[in-house]
Amino acid sequence: MMLRQRRTHPKVELHNHLTADFHASLAHDVREGMTAEQKRLPSKYFYDAHGSRLFDRICTLPEYYLTRTEMKILGDHAPAIMQSFARGDLVEMGSGSHKKICRLLKAANGTAGATLRYIPVDVSRDALLAASRELARLFPHLCIKGYVADFTAHLHLIPQGSKRLFVLFGSTIGNFPGPEAVRLLRNVRTIMAPDDRFLLGLDMAKPPHHLNAAYNDSQGVTSAFNKNILAVINRHLHADFDPAQFDHVAFYHEEKEQVEMHLRAREAMTVRIADIDLAIDLEEGETIHTEISRKFTPESARMMCAQAGLDISRWFSDPRRWFSLVELAPRRA
Ligand code: SAH
Ligand code: AVI
Repeated sequence: MMLRQRRTHPKVELHNHLTADFHASLAHDVREGMTAEQKRLPSKYFYDAHGSRLFDRICTLPEYYLTRTEMKILGDHAPAIMQSFARGDLVEMGSGSHKKICRLLKAANGTAGATLRYIPVDVSRDALLAASRELARLFPHLCIKGYVADFTAHLHLIPQGSKRLFVLFGSTIGNFPGPEAVRLLRNVRTIMAPDDRFLLGLDMAKPPHHLNAAYNDSQGVTSAFNKNILAVINRHLHADFDPAQFDHVAFYHEEKEQVEMHLRAREAMTVRIADIDLAIDLEEGETIHTEISRKFTPESARMMCAQAGLDISRWFSDPRRWFSLVELAPRRA
C-alpha cells in the first residue's frame, strides 16, 4: 500500500491511503455496477473536489434541512457532548467541511487544559485539505492528523492508545444499506475501548413532501451533484458519459424508508468506458441508481445500533425530532 504523508502546517499531518487503490477500486465498482440488472454506482464517488463543493452548497439550500438541524443540535448540546472529552482523539469519519466539528472543538476549548487531536477520515482529499487548513487557522494549537482513506476499509490505520470520540455526522450512515451500515458500525465498535464513545447523526423519517423537496431543490444543485458522478467516471476511466443526456430523479420510497437517487437516460445510448474496455447500452428511460439515503425511526435506529453491539448512552434531538445525534457506547460483554 502506498503511503504518502504531507505536512501543510506545523500541526497538520496528512496521510493518503487511496492513491494506489483508487483507480482499481473505481474500475471494479463501475464494472460491477454498470453490468448489473439495475445499473448502479457507489455514492462515495460523488466526492471529487467539485462534488465536495456541490455538497457544501446543498448544505446551505433552504430545502436541505439536515445540516441546519444538526448544526442547531450541536449548538445546543456541544458542551454536554464534550463534557467528558477534553483530552484524546476526535476521529471524524466522512468529515467533509470543518463546520460541524468546529462546534465540538469550540465546546472543548471552553474546558481548562483541554488537549484534543483531530483525526479526520475522508475519501475527498480536497475537502480534507480545505477543512484541515481552516481548522489550523481557527485553532492554532490543535494537532490534526488527517487520513485520505475509505472508512469502510481503512479504520484500522487510525492511531490507538488515547481515549477516542468517533463521529459520523450528516446521516452519512443512511447512505449504506442496512447490512452494510451495521457492518460499518460494528467495525467501529471493534476498535473502540470501553471508555470510547461514538457520536452518530441520523436523519429521521418525516412527511414525504419534506424529503422529496430536500432532494429535488429548486436551484438544481442536487441534480448537478448527482450528475457529477458521471464526470468523475469520465475523467478517471476515460468514459464518454454525456451528463446532459441524463435527468436527476430523487424520490422517497415510503416502504423502504429511504430516499433514492437515480440518473435517468433521456434517450437510448451506448456509453464507452475505455479503461475497463466496456460498452454499456442504456434504453430510453433506464436509470442508474446512485444513492440511497435512509431515514430512521427511534426503533430502527435502536435496532441498527444494537445489531452492531452499540448501546445508546445519550440521545440529542431538535424540537421537531427531525434529526438525531446519538451517543453510543460499546456494549459490555
Ligand atoms: N460530515 C459532513 C459531510 C457529509 S458528506 C457533513 O455532515 O456535512 C459525506 C462525506 O463523507 C463526504 O465528505 C465524502 O467524501 C465522505 N465519504 C463518503 N463515503 C466515504 C467513505 N467510504 N470513506 C471515507 N469518506 C467517505
Ligand atoms: C452525505 N449524505 C448524508 C447526503 C444525504 O442526504 O444522503 C448526500 C446527499 N445526497 C443528496 N443530497 C445530499
